[in-house]
Amino acid sequence: MKNLYKIPTHVAVIMDGNGRWARRRGLPRVYGHRAGAERVEEILQTAKEVGVKWLSVFAFSTENWQRPKEEVDTIMSLLVEYINKKVPYLLENNIRLRFMGRIDQLPENIKQTVLEGEEATKGCKGMNFVVALNYSGKAEIIDAVNRILAEGKGSITEEDFRKYFYIPEMPDPDLLIRTSGEERISNFMLWQMAYTEFYFTETLWPDFDREEFFKALYEYQSRERRFGKVLEV
Ligand code: IPE
Ligand code: IPE
Ligand code: MG
Repeated sequence: MKNLYKIPTHVAVIMDGNGRWARRRGLPRVYGHRAGAERVEEILQTAKEVGVKWLSVFAFSTENWQRPKEEVDTIMSLLVEYINKKVPYLLENNIRLRFMGRIDQLPENIKQTVLEGEEATKGCKGMNFVVALNYSGKAEIIDAVNRILAEGKGSITEEDFRKYFYIPEMPDPDLLIRTSGEERISNFMLWQMAYTEFYFTETLWPDFDREEFFKALYEYQSRERRFGKVLEV
């Protein structure tokens, strides 16, 4: 491990390229999702080691329901299997599991697993692991606006607006990693990424290992974040 400084507080990841990873091996796409799920713990562990406080991963978007039913069903059953399997690991490592997205609209068994995972780890204070599930950045903003309207508010500040997000206390991502060569946001945290640093890599998610994660962190270190200001006069 080279010298690390400027550790991002929140790293967001668009885990992309599972399907292509499988196709390149002549396998059905769902094999890629399994391989992708197996990668997550290594990245979570590395993030914790270096002192990242929030790791959020995009697991399933509201748009992903348009995929073939067989693929959607496999992703959903993998999620249930993964959450159940990882709870002991999360507890041991003091990592709190949270979900963001339209969780209410998920099938009952998935919702149940999600709520149980959150409940089991709610006392963990070492780090937060956020899984974006049935998530859309536009939907998050609309859901917030509708709650605000339902409360009869006539106007709102930026700081108050955040209180209506799925996880109000989650800080904005400092670094976004997207794998598989696609360079777009695909409806991930639209509001929260106003000043996030973006890192894109050709590596497919199932191949994104600890070394690859360090590469993203080193790249982040070299960025100069300005937030609209002039740093040196
Ligand atoms: C990301 O991999 C996982 C999900 C969107 C659920 P993809 O399934 O999008 O893989 P590619 O982009 O088709 O290779
Ligand atoms: C974004 O990936 C969503 C997740 C990684 C869960 P997609 O593969 O769905 O995004 P597009 O369709 O390439 O933009
Ligand atoms: Mg994709």
